[in-house]
Amino acid sequence: MKYLFITLCISLFISCQKKDESESKKTPPTPIPTDFIEELWYKNAFLYSVDVEVFKDSDGDGVGDFKGITQQLDYLIQLGVRTIWLAPFQPTPNKDDGYDIADFYGIDSRLGTDQDFDEFIRQTNKKGIRVMMDLVTNHTSDQHPWFKAARQRKDSPYRSWYVWSKEQPKKWDKGMIFPGVQKEVWSYDKQAGEYFYHRFYDFQPDLNMQNPALQREMRKIVRHWLDKGVAGFRVDAVPFLIEIANADFDPEKPQYQFDIITQLHQYIQWHKKDAILLGEANVDPKDQQDYFGKDGQNMQTMFNFFANQYLFYSLATGETKLLKKALEDTKAIPPTAQWATFLRNHDEIDLGRLSDSERDKVYARFGPDSTMQLYDRGIRRRLAPMLGDRKLIDLAYSFLFSMPGMPVIRYGEEIGMGDDLKLKERLSIRTPMQWSNAPNAGFSTAAKTVQPVISQGPYSYTKGVNVADQRADSASLLNQITRLAQLRKQCPEIGWGNWEMLDTGSEQVLAIRYDWQGRSLVVVHNFSSEPQQCQIATKTQTGRPLTDLMNNSETPLGTGGNFAVQLPGYTFRWYRVKK
Ligand code: NOJ
Repeated sequence: MKYLFITLCISLFISCQKKDESESKKTPPTPIPTDFIEELWYKNAFLYSVDVEVFKDSDGDGVGDFKGITQQLDYLIQLGVRTIWLAPFQPTPNKDDGYDIADFYGIDSRLGTDQDFDEFIRQTNKKGIRVMMDLVTNHTSDQHPWFKAARQRKDSPYRSWYVWSKEQPKKWDKGMIFPGVQKEVWSYDKQAGEYFYHRFYDFQPDLNMQNPALQREMRKIVRHWLDKGVAGFRVDAVPFLIEIANADFDPEKPQYQFDIITQLHQYIQWHKKDAILLGEANVDPKDQQDYFGKDGQNMQTMFNFFANQYLFYSLATGETKLLKKALEDTKAIPPTAQWATFLRNHDEIDLGRLSDSERDKVYARFGPDSTMQLYDRGIRRRLAPMLGDRKLIDLAYSFLFSMPGMPVIRYGEEIGMGDDLKLKERLSIRTPMQWSNAPNAGFSTAAKTVQPVISQGPYSYTKGVNVADQRADSASLLNQITRLAQLRKQCPEIGWGNWEMLDTGSEQVLAIRYDWQGRSLVVVHNFSSEPQQCQIATKTQTGRPLTDLMNNSETPLGTGGNFAVQLPGYTFRWYRVKK
């Protein structure tokens, strides 16, 4: 409700503004009023994504746990993190790394007890950290008691919680999410004597979200965790959660029921005014408005998968034209909404929206070997080994922290962890956190860890890819990312302000100007390995020099607010525009 009110206020400001626009065409959108800052905290948050299972093992059984992550909260504070997103931590057969849940209300006993979770939340509250969690209600594990009951008896109340077909549906092998690994989306269940629908693996039967009883259950789940103290949900697989699936539907052209999200949004806000939904939805920009909601009544934030693919294209080729277009294409979102931006997440980099030739260029540079590619569309590597060059990695992170949206970093990326391509599918990028050069990277004292620790090659924990070594080295990636996180905090206009792309005179250089509450910032990134001579039109008329926020030096501006700069390969600048 509160958000609806804020959205209405902002819409009102904007519509008043529109009248002025007819007089002076160039008026930018009205910025968010400053007293909304607390409610819209996600506009400028820095989110850290972590899987408890592989973060820190406190009791030496080889599996990370809640006590372990609780011990490491000061590390996250030092990094500048104030919001954590936890991967699924509920009881699970663990066939899809926890995304196959067998009890939505519990804690996986390998990760700790209810009390350990509560203590973790208490400590995060004390330190001013918000905790978000995955909400995986598109499907359950086939070991969930609901599915067991549903497949056993036709007259079970749980039967209609899943999606069934008596005959094999015509489109039984269309719309798989894991092509190459998954053979079908409808599988025959002997016990039920019918086919069940599953967008993902066959051990993850889809829940029938059209069923009001299940919608009530989802609200109950959400309420349970809000009461436990979480600050919001990363909603898994949103398009599939809201698709209207039945025996006759076409999985390649589904219809969606968006009011499931609207109701969820409303429900959450009634219970916790500043709790949010962060949607996992890799959608075309023409559909993004439906996901955010026209007036921001659906997802407050969504991962910008679209821009992510073009960002990788730019990192691979040095060309920024398509990235600029992707940023423009994803610009129009409700005033209360925000993108979540990222370089790597826990899945493959999905390049499915690039053309074949664009994707081939990214493959050629970042994933040339077929063992590095996955699902005919992506790359299953961590960022550091993929980009290789430290200057390119620094450029990528500077861009992440300064692009429109709230930056999200996955555990281990901040120290440049590597991947283990011997592990299957996406497990390659899910190895334990590397804390020090002690055995098992200080992750665990057990003889055997839940996933193997990277102990060979240049990304081994013994080769400086660990927190302790990098904290002691001011030039390390860890310290560089800590500095970027601090810099981002000094530049609230990125999250709050209006932005526009500036002319740079170079196809390889991308410049963005932000304006908010009388503050302005210009960020410039050279995606080429070669030096670029640029002429940047800052559109500033004050006649005062720009301040380079990295080193406090000043750059005078010429007539019309233009300035010339020679940018060495893969370098970047953050300039404060002085009033
Ligand atoms: C999306 C998650 O990001 C992915 O890791 C998981 O396998 C699928 N959803 C199924 O839950």
